[in-house]
Amino acid sequence: MIIAVDGPTASGKGTIAKALAGHFGLPHLDTGLLYRAVGRQVAMNGGDADDAADALAACDFPDSLLGDPALRDEDTGSLASRVSVHQDVRAALRQRQVDFARQPGGAVLDGRDIGTVIAPDADVKLFVTASPKTRAQRRYREMARTNTKGSYEEMLADIRARDERDTNRSEAPLKPAKDAHLLDTSDLTIGDAVQAAIKLIEGHLHSD
Ligand code: DC
Repeated sequence: MIIAVDGPTASGKGTIAKALAGHFGLPHLDTGLLYRAVGRQVAMNGGDADDAADALAACDFPDSLLGDPALRDEDTGSLASRVSVHQDVRAALRQRQVDFARQPGGAVLDGRDIGTVIAPDADVKLFVTASPKTRAQRRYREMARTNTKGSYEEMLADIRARDERDTNRSEAPLKPAKDAHLLDTSDLTIGDAVQAAIKLIEGHLHSD
């Protein structure tokens, strides 16, 4: 079974995807990490994330980079969003994601274009959303917990900028697949959001 989980940053999609993988006993791929690795590699190369050739060269990042905690930084998230607009970058990362999705037994993948581009034939698709303010609050709380510098206003501005870039790019923009189930987590605790996702998927499987 392939489960596709898409949505904007801080919507809860990553936590939901991980919990779904545990619940259904499937391997999980956070595809955002691949774009984050490219973003970080561009910076380490001294390149420009907005330059297609620099971004493509960074797709050769070593696998060990995927374990680097710096990939979770806000700055790396912005770089990831910038490199992800380049068609060549998306093409370079595509096969790895398709192979992961098609492994025997299936998988859970989360990202922006899983249900639309990487696994359009997924058995179940979820599109997880939350209001920009809720997402900025979540990021801000997380930053306060980890003693990272930054204000709520900066978080909100960054989230809006990333939404704008991810939604309006010409290649594989962030949008729900036509057959995706929408899950708005604005007013849900993460535990309730996970339960709602499991319920949606089990309901979908039983309706087949
Ligand atoms: O999910 P995330 O915040 O780790 O993703 C970081 C950026 O990577 C996001 O702003 C856009 C890009 N991305 C993408 O274009 N396609 C994906 N499947 C996953 C992430």
